[in-house]
Amino acid sequence: MCSDVVLVTGGAGYIGSHACKALARAGFKPVVYDNLSYGHEAAVRWGPFELGDILDSQRLSEVCERHRPVAVMHFAAFAYVGESVVDPAKYYHNNVVGSLTLLETMRACGVRKIVFSSTCATYGVPDVLPIGEATPQRPINPYGASKLMVERILSDFGSAYDLGWTALRYFNAAGADLDGEIGEDHDPETHLIPLVIDAASGRRGPVSVFGTDYDTPDGTCIRDYIHVADLADAHVLALKALCAGAPSDVYNLGNGQGFSVREVIAAVEQVCGRPVPARMMARRPGDPAALVSDATKARKQLDWRPKIPELDRIVDSAWKWHQKASR
Ligand SMILES: NC(=O)c1ccc[n+]([C@@H]2O[C@H](COP(=O)([O-])OP(=O)(O)OC[C@H]3O[C@@H](n4cnc5c(N)ncnc54)[C@H](O)[C@@H]3O)[C@@H](O)[C@H]2O)c1
Repeated sequence: MCSDVVLVTGGAGYIGSHACKALARAGFKPVVYDNLSYGHEAAVRWGPFELGDILDSQRLSEVCERHRPVAVMHFAAFAYVGESVVDPAKYYHNNVVGSLTLLETMRACGVRKIVFSSTCATYGVPDVLPIGEATPQRPINPYGASKLMVERILSDFGSAYDLGWTALRYFNAAGADLDGEIGEDHDPETHLIPLVIDAASGRRGPVSVFGTDYDTPDGTCIRDYIHVADLADAHVLALKALCAGAPSDVYNLGNGQGFSVREVIAAVEQVCGRPVPARMMARRPGDPAALVSDATKARKQLDWRPKIPELDRIVDSAWKWHQKASR
């Protein structure tokens, strides 16, 4: 059993902070390494915080020397798809050069295991659903391309330098810690569930529904929402598997069922007990009609099963966090 310290890059962010809680519960000591470009120091609660940038090799080395991690969980990245299209340099620099710097520093410091946050955006617009790990990866924006490049770097480092790695391709992370300690706090926010909750609570104007004429049952886009605590659990399972000698691999992490934008709005209305003002808009370029995962491999090989698959429970946890955070 491998235990002790895990360096969590981006651990002050949404998914990374939930992973820290799950790590601590599993007996690990998460050390958060984050530059707070988007994260929140208040979300660092389960271990020490080290302010730093993944592009800063010297600072990374110092932190590795001080804490001697057995592994890294690597969440740090920029993740705004639209911004990546207008400013690809920012994305390739932070996500690719940053990850390469991290991996080179790990190598120099003798840290040989990493769990990496990849994304369904590496698949682009798939020909068939559900999306399995063997679905061709054809990203349609620099964000997805940057993550695919890191997957390739991991694979090459694994072959050449004895690095054990796991790439977890998440679908749409959603919801909040069921104890209400942490939740989603992005600024700007682009994710559907918090935007719909904001519209319901009057914090924002009507939510925009982009496209109502898709070839889906109600005409709106379908996405696969996976509870952030379930993602966090998958990270711990992936880390334990790596530490137990499992080979490097990639896994989809999703619910395996899709919900339309209209279904999300209806779930929010039901949970909040309030109507959601919505504006019907034209399609956005590059939005596939439906993205739904096949996460059978993670179920079989990591023994991972989402514990909170129901949309209303996902929304309920997000709503409770929203109410607490806006008090
Ligand atoms: N949220 C989703 O639905 C989703 C889906 C698929 C993949 N992902 C991936 O999961 C990871 C976490 O996503 P999130 O939603 O928690 O995002 P987030 O923005 O909340 O967290 C990212 C964290 O990384 C930090 N960071 C960014 N660049 C850094 C750098 N150069 N050095 C140090 N820290 C840096 C930020 O300050 C932030 O705390 C990202 O890699 C993202 O691409 C997210």
